[in-house]
Amino acid sequence: MCGIVGVLGNHEVAPLIVEALKRLEYRGYDSAGIATVNRGRLDRRRAVGKLVNLSDLLVHEPLAGKSGIGHTRWATHGAATTVNAHPHRSGPVAVVHNGIIENFRELREEVTAAGLTPESQTDTETVALVLRMFMDRGLSPVDAARETLTRLHGAFALCFLFDGEEDLMIAARKGSPLAIGHGEGEMFVGSDAIALAPMTDRITYLEEGDWAVITRAGAQIYDAAGRLANRAETRIQIDATRIEKGGYKHFMAKEIAEQPVVIADALKHYVQDGAPNLPAEVDFTGVDRLTLVACGTASYACLVAKYWFEQIAGLPCEVDIASEFRYREPPLSDRSWALFVSQSGETADTLAALRYASGKVAKVVSVVNVPTSSIARESDLALPILAGVEVGVASTKAFTCQLTVLALLALKAALDRGRLAPADLAAHLGALAALPGLMNHTLGLSGDIAALASDLAKAQDILFLGRGSMYPLALEGALKLKEISYIHAEGYASGELKHGPIALIDAQVPVIVLAPRDALFEKTVSNMQEVMARHGKVLLISDAQGVAEAGKGCWKTLTLPACDSAFAPILYSVPAQLLAYHTAIAKGTDVDQPRNLAKSVTVE
Ligand code: AGP
Repeated sequence: MCGIVGVLGNHEVAPLIVEALKRLEYRGYDSAGIATVNRGRLDRRRAVGKLVNLSDLLVHEPLAGKSGIGHTRWATHGAATTVNAHPHRSGPVAVVHNGIIENFRELREEVTAAGLTPESQTDTETVALVLRMFMDRGLSPVDAARETLTRLHGAFALCFLFDGEEDLMIAARKGSPLAIGHGEGEMFVGSDAIALAPMTDRITYLEEGDWAVITRAGAQIYDAAGRLANRAETRIQIDATRIEKGGYKHFMAKEIAEQPVVIADALKHYVQDGAPNLPAEVDFTGVDRLTLVACGTASYACLVAKYWFEQIAGLPCEVDIASEFRYREPPLSDRSWALFVSQSGETADTLAALRYASGKVAKVVSVVNVPTSSIARESDLALPILAGVEVGVASTKAFTCQLTVLALLALKAALDRGRLAPADLAAHLGALAALPGLMNHTLGLSGDIAALASDLAKAQDILFLGRGSMYPLALEGALKLKEISYIHAEGYASGELKHGPIALIDAQVPVIVLAPRDALFEKTVSNMQEVMARHGKVLLISDAQGVAEAGKGCWKTLTLPACDSAFAPILYSVPAQLLAYHTAIAKGTDVDQPRNLAKSVTVE
């Protein structure tokens, strides 16, 4: 989603800003632009498409200046065109924005009545117009910004630059994250610390409602009530090399391959002396219900975890997608916990759901990959999944690390609730510990999967089936495939097939069945037979025993190593991810930045 960069530097800033925007590319975008102030004069360049188009434009029409703001735009209001690209400018002010200004129509009428004419279809341009309206009335940039911010409804991270002001940026945060970076006589603004990593590791996070007046000497931060606020400066450890492709063709390929290592790291961190090693606050005694909330892939991790919490710990569990949760107004009890799962920790719907639950439940826990994120900071307790930076828009290693941490939480719940005998705990931990090795073995099937994918790439529709905890994995397999290959795919619980989706089966529709040889295997095989009886093309993904028992008549089979059935969804994620990856490669799509998608979804 939109990325913001601002620099008050000591050198030419255009190359620095383009470089920082590159580090935000992973968020997803469809146009980009920068504005600078040079010898007091504000100017800007904007281009549709990839950043390389902006860089090319800057070669032909350079932009000088030591103060500047930059933006990658993910279109919300108005198509991806140059005129809708940020920075938006009106008279002396330029602005970049992430979020949505909900009252922009009223504001647009107001500025039009004041004689100003919008030129774009965006909500963001209205912010520049309102600020300019106040400056036209004689207000200074700072006073005009203060006044403007009180008029905006919705979610925003904003950064302003002004004509004639070489040493001034104004930044504001409400609903969308924004970080201020401190340098030696230089100051920075970024959507996240990753963007600023090469320039500084000294970061101050703006809190909800904060706005800041930034000069090279530092930042004065005001809270939502207009009081001067003291926000801590933290040192961020972001190893710049960790967001390189490291020899892989795509970040997604690298991130899939990293899973054995990051899962081993997470296990090392969260298991000690033969028991889950979680913070003391993780005590499920007296907790009578768990509500798990997330979006997309993270919500499928929650659905898998529901099986674990209910089957292993006997703890009733409900899973909600965050965009529906608060509007459903679910009653929450003060004996329950709410658990929010998010890779980025900035997903707007998940954050809003967390705020809905705060104060209504006994504890708000988050499972996040970015420990400095808004969701982590607003939780009573944040558990990092330790996946390392995930750049590919399609979440892979974050999913399996989320599952690993959720599995350990379920084991801890089982222990606290007196549901787990020592021998069973040892068996479960042993099964988790075996996963990195089994995943390594499964990664070795990448060539076979690539061969299968070249056939799958010809399909228009693909179904994924699974039973028990493999059902959410079927949902995840379908999501992964559609995200990056643009092939229509759906996941179903195998038992649901004959309640509707079986009507889709013909010789053209591949059906991918995720079925380890577990207690539910035979039931899944019956559903698979129903598909084959209708000439459906079944790809059975199972272990050697499952393939031996049920592989006959399948279009293709893929044999995974045998594993403990409880945690099979973690292992079976790997072939689901590789199938999506290789199918996308066969189709020639943009694997790491698929069309229309954003890595960090910071609007509702
Ligand atoms: C995953 O492949 C997707 N890109 C998407 O569903 C993602 O999982 C979802 O947007 C939630 O993101 P979060 O984990 O950062 O909250």
